[in-house]
Formats: sequence, structure tokens, C-alpha cells
Amino acid sequence: MEKIISLSKRRGFIFPGSELYGGLANAWDYGPLGAQLKKNIKDEWWRWFVERRADMVGIDAALLMNSKVWEASGHLKEFSDPLVECKGCHNRFRADQIDVGVPCAVCGGSKGFTEKVNFNLMLKTYLGPAEDSAHVAYFRPELAQAMFVNFKNIIETMRKRLPFGIASQGKAFRNEITPGNFIFRTREFDLMEFEYFIRESEWEKHFEYWLSEMKHWLKHLGINEKNLRFVEIPDGERAHYSKRTIDVEYLYPFGQKELYGLAYRTDFDLKNHMEKSGEDVRYLDPETQEKFLPHVIEPTFGLDRSVLAAMLEAYNEEDAPTAEEGETEKRVVMKFPIWMAPIKVAFLPLSKKEELTRIAKSIYEEISKVYVSEYDETQSIGRRYRRQDEIGTPFCVTVDFDSINDKKVTVRNRDTMKQDRIPIADVSSFLKEKLI
Ligand code: GAP
Repeated sequence: MEKIISLSKRRGFIFPGSELYGGLANAWDYGPLGAQLKKNIKDEWWRWFVERRADMVGIDAALLMNSKVWEASGHLKEFSDPLVECKGCHNRFRADQIDVGVPCAVCGGSKGFTEKVNFNLMLKTYLGPAEDSAHVAYFRPELAQAMFVNFKNIIETMRKRLPFGIASQGKAFRNEITPGNFIFRTREFDLMEFEYFIRESEWEKHFEYWLSEMKHWLKHLGINEKNLRFVEIPDGERAHYSKRTIDVEYLYPFGQKELYGLAYRTDFDLKNHMEKSGEDVRYLDPETQEKFLPHVIEPTFGLDRSVLAAMLEAYNEEDAPTAEEGETEKRVVMKFPIWMAPIKVAFLPLSKKEELTRIAKSIYEEISKVYVSEYDETQSIGRRYRRQDEIGTPFCVTVDFDSINDKKVTVRNRDTMKQDRIPIADVSSFLKEKLI
């Protein structure tokens, strides 16, 4: 983890939040490369699960919703974690994450812990100038409710028949008791999830189908199967709305913990919204004229955890040959899948001489219209390669003095370090073939 955190800071992926003012505990800002990496994963997910599927539609809903939504969904009552407080130092912990029979991990004291209480995770604010109960609002702790409260709008406008899904991506907020482990658990995070509406009788079939689709996505994300565990969550430990849950857990350096989740939410949410709002949100089967509440399978994907797992998987340290015969040095390389790499190609003139920079810049200007590219003419070529390896750029194009006469450049492959000499006129088609 330390290596990933340090690389993130050093190379511009992720910085501590509010760093200038001493930081804000467990808040992180994505820098230029992290923002691009995160965007690539988010966009790919949208293409994969929404755009390419006839049975899915997407929405982009407000973060703040009417508080009645959270009453109906059960979040105001049930969305809590068990909390205990050390009687010595008054630090607070999640009761399910510590052993209350041993000394406090913070102060080392043995005064013991308070009885556990349920601490609600909803992040509260006030809308408008009056801070009273009539103006309380909550930041959404999940995206799902936006899909449920828009279900009626979608069936009335989008001509979808069961089974079909509604997907969304965006920020969620939880007043976590113990955030930590870099971007693993924060109070503000990005989620990607969808609600897949089905007939009750078919829930098991759809549950299995989405489990296997989640596995395909994980493979696409570059996650090694051996680092994944699919954990059946037993009765009594599932979220209040779920009849069956499988947690997709990942072997992070700090332990086996949740990456994604798959839940069978039954008709719990739609039923409650229908009851509490008084609106009929039932689905009308156009063939049988039967009206009923669909059931729901929900695959959910934490975006920040996707970034973390993808970075952990991509991180490699290798022995690479140096310029000196027979000598090697350590090379750090982020082997992101090509579609995910923040920068696809870097243009590196061997010297700052105008004859070379002119050629390199003109190819860069052409290629950067199509692929996210970098132009870099500072420092030695060895250092520039090292930087591009550490940020996971699949191809580096170098322009040297021979390029002036032979009109060729060298293309270096990130993973194999193999160098191909190709005509400048072919750079575009070469990249097009490799950067599918
Ligand atoms: N709508 C279902 C739902 O919200 P969840 O398991 O509570 O389910 C979904 O959360 C996903 O959000 C998790 O699988 C995880 O990837 C991510 N997640 C949850 N809490 C998080 C936090 N505090 N920081 C970062 N990601 C978090």
C-alpha cells in the first residue's frame, strides 16, 4: 500500500485532500493521471453495462433527495454501523471490526469499551438558510433510490419491457465511523450501480447471470482471479433490504475486504415507495395486462475501490537492463490494460534541438486528436522512460537524429520494452492497431 500511495503522490495520481492546510483525514483528491484513470474506468463501465445493452438505460440523478425517500427506503432507521467508545481515550470504533476484550488499539488502555450503539451513517445537511428539522436533507448513501423513485418515469417514457435495468454513476456519502486504508473507505466516494427489474419467479436465474457478468467485468479490469473471493453473506448480516447477497471480496494488502456487491433486493424498495408515496408504481405487462411490482437484482461497483484494485494489480517491479552491458536496475511499471491507461502514448524527442522537437511535436499534435498523449522533452531519455513506465503508458515514441533523414521513429513497448523502428507516416496506423 505504501508503494501505491507514494507512487500516486509522486506521479500525480492521487493527492491527500486539503493538503495545504494539513489535510482532511481520509479525504483524497485525484490528480491529472488519477482523474483520467478513474474516468476511463467509469466510461468503460457505462459503455459495457449501459450503451452496449438494449436492456439497460442510464440516469444521472441529484445527490440530494427528499428526506421521505430515506424514510421509505429504511435508511434513516436501519442504515447504521455498531459503534463502541474506548472508556480511556474516547476514540470510537466499529464494534464489528475490533475485539472489545483486548486493550484499546489507540491508547493501549484496558478501561474497556462502552456498550455498542447503532450509529446512523447518513450524512446530514440543511437546505436553505434555516437550520431546523423542516429543512434537513441527506446526501445519498447509495444511488439505488434514484433508480427506484424514477422507475415510474422510466416505464412511462422508455418503452422497456421486463427484464430491464436502470443504471447510474456518481457520488455517495456515508458518515463512516472508521474511514481509512487510502481510498478504500472514505466518507465521500464514487459508485456505479444498477437495479435490474425482473419477475419474482426468475430471480435466481438473473442473480446467477449477473454474478457471471460481474466476473467478466473483473477480468476486463485486469483483476487476477486468485485475488478474488465470492462470499455468501449469511442471514442476519445482510443489508436490511436484501434476501441474498454475495460480496465480491479482494485480497488487499490490508486484508480480504469488499470490492463489489450483488444483492437480491426483492420488491422491498418499490413496495415501500408505493406505500409511502401513495403512487402506483406497478409495472403493466403489455401482453397479459397483469399489474405487479417487479423484483430487483442489484450489482454494485465502488469506483474508488475499482481504481485501488486496478492499481494494485497493475503494479509491477522488474529487473530491467541498464545502458551498461550486463547490468540491471529495478523498474517499476504499471501494467494497466491498454483501455485503462491514463496516457496512451508519449512523444519523446531525444534532445531539445529544434530539428527533433519540431518532428516530435507535429506527430504529437496529430495523434493527440485521437489518443490521450503526452509530449515530454525534459531530462534524460532513461528518466522519461521510467516516468512513462510508472504511469503505465503503453507506448513511447522517440525521435532521434536519424529520424531527420530516414523519416522513422522508435516505438517502445511498455511491457516488453521491445523497440520497433517504424516510418513516421505509419505511426498513426501502428497505434490504431495496438490501442484498440
Ligand atoms: N446500493 C447498494 C450499496 O450501496 P454497499 O455494499 O453498501 O451497497 C456499494 O456499497 C459499494 O460501494 C461497495 O461494494 C464498495 O465498493 C463501495 N463503498 C461502500 N462504502 C464505501 C466507502 N466508505 N468508501 C469507498 N467505497 C465504498
